[in-house]
Amino acid sequence: MKNTMKVLFIGDIVGRSGRKILAKKWDLLKNKFNFDIVICNGENSAGGLGINAKTAEELLELGVDGITLGNHTWGQREWLSQAFHYEQICRPINSPEEWPGYDHLFIEKDQFKIIVINLLGQAFMQPVLLNPFQMIENKITYLKEKYQTKNIIIDFHAESTAEKMMMGYFLQDKVSAILGTHTHVQTADEKILGNGTGYISDVGMTGPSNGVIGMDKKIALRRVLDQLPSTYRLEKSDQVMLNAVLLTLDARAGQCIKIERIFLEEKL
Ligand SMILES: [Fe+2]
Ligand SMILES: [Fe+2]
Repeated sequence: MKNTMKVLFIGDIVGRSGRKILAKKWDLLKNKFNFDIVICNGENSAGGLGINAKTAEELLELGVDGITLGNHTWGQREWLSQAFHYEQICRPINSPEEWPGYDHLFIEKDQFKIIVINLLGQAFMQPVLLNPFQMIENKITYLKEKYQTKNIIIDFHAESTAEKMMMGYFLQDKVSAILGTHTHVQTADEKILGNGTGYISDVGMTGPSNGVIGMDKKIALRRVLDQLPSTYRLEKSDQVMLNAVLLTLDARAGQCIKIERIFLEEKL
């Protein structure tokens, strides 16, 4: 039985070009990295804001095994009635219990089992009900027991690098990996914490390269220059990037052996 599990985690997929580059690079990534499981953050997959059935299905049909969300979970209103249709998609675990949708993922594929959690940070973010530091430990213990696996990945969706590092040290040796998302800028600080917890402050984003975190740079600039309201739009340039990390896990111990950063960019 294979003991090494390779997990590809793809940073926030932004709009159509983000979905397109993933589809285009899928075979190349599969051949190069031979991943067992693919997880992506999909909170910006529909027009840059939120997710809906159309973009969710497009990603799942590609072969994505699990999708996490974040502060833009409800960017598309129709997701309120669609969220419970997708067991492979989870919203933040520390959001109000009444929210529709699943609060964690359990993926069982081939001989592998893995739990995936989406956790929202507090600094410079909309207020969330539960402090992520105070609530997460009990959840981890409960879920590991429930599914009888030590493989657990946290997508920590937060703005502040300091908060992400604190979460990394707080959960080291309790989970297989803590992967930051949300800033859309990939950081070069991937490492193994403790005896086997993969860590990176931010995986980055997958979508238009030449905008301001995926958005049209002229509109973004106007908002700060004139300080008059204008609606964000996706950056239109055809230069597109794909940001991800590849985790190699010891599937019995639930430990990360290796974390590799992936950054591809090209004209679509
Ligand atoms: Fe995002
Ligand atoms: Fe976000």
